[in-house]
Amino acid sequence: MNIRIPKDWALPESAVTAESVYRLRNRRDFLRSLGLASAGLLGAQALRGATGGFPAKENELYPASALKPTPYDFITSYNNFYEFGTDKSAPKDNAKGWKTEPWTVELAGLIRKPGKFDVNDLIAKVGGIEERVYRHRCVEAWSMVIPWDGFSLAKLVTLADPLPEAKYLKLSSFNDPKNVVGQRTAVLDWPYVEGLRLDEAMNELAFIATGIYGQPIPNQNGAPLRLVTPWKYGFKGIKSIVKIEFVAQQPRNTWYVMAPREYGFYANVNPNVDHPRWSQASERVIGGSFFAGKQATLMFNGYEKQVAGLYTGLDLGRNY
Ligand code: MTE
Repeated sequence: MNIRIPKDWALPESAVTAESVYRLRNRRDFLRSLGLASAGLLGAQALRGATGGFPAKENELYPASALKPTPYDFITSYNNFYEFGTDKSAPKDNAKGWKTEPWTVELAGLIRKPGKFDVNDLIAKVGGIEERVYRHRCVEAWSMVIPWDGFSLAKLVTLADPLPEAKYLKLSSFNDPKNVVGQRTAVLDWPYVEGLRLDEAMNELAFIATGIYGQPIPNQNGAPLRLVTPWKYGFKGIKSIVKIEFVAQQPRNTWYVMAPREYGFYANVNPNVDHPRWSQASERVIGGSFFAGKQATLMFNGYEKQVAGLYTGLDLGRNY
């Protein structure tokens, strides 16, 4: 990944949604505050809002009161989504109008309950959605705090009912070069692929996001569903998932295939292990003020208590 030097994240003050917007639970007020209500710009997003279980109830273990969420406009206009271009600002424009409704997700491989599911049926099957506010740390040394809506990945694994031979999940994004501009270039090996060990997928933190700030997730953030593993670098958070396969061998994830010396499979946030080209000891806070815009990076991105036990015996001084 090419690290980009500030500037492009410094949105004008006028583009930033007030924090108070987040506290507006009324959908109409929320949309109006974003200037979207009458403009009818949401398209598939609005459609899914009607079926996707919004508004979601806050999970008290991960409340907004514990972390200050990044303003909505930063989260949705500073993105990594190479299918829609490599500039941070490109996905928002290039993914506008891309069709994510209807959407089918396939569960396959070493499981007892394989099948293809409409995303809204899947949400109903796992018992609906909840809200969790998580830290988000990109391998490029920037960070945000995101109020996600969605459901725990463990529920989806339970639904799939893995066989004893299943040891890993292999998750794949779509392949749609006809409609998706970045997929007409060879900047990455398409489709984007990620993986988790089965016990990582069952960890309470592993999450499938279907929304942000109480609204259906925008295309540029990975509509209609993407992975969120907040103790790992952001590239593990594969967007717009079409297939989850349960496999016996560790899958080869996209960034590992592209640059195995730089990006590993585990990719756990670790301030003590530098990227070959830059330090991981601190991070640039997106949406933070110019002066207070840097902070120390925490081991496992602050989620050590929940996940350290998964890695007993693994040398954390190495970039796996
Ligand atoms: N998923 C797909 N399909 N394509 C991508 O390019 N980029 C990854 C990850 N998921 C990416 C992806 C990277 S590098 C990061 S940091 C996060 O998405 C960014 O998520 P955000 O744009 O919602 O902050």
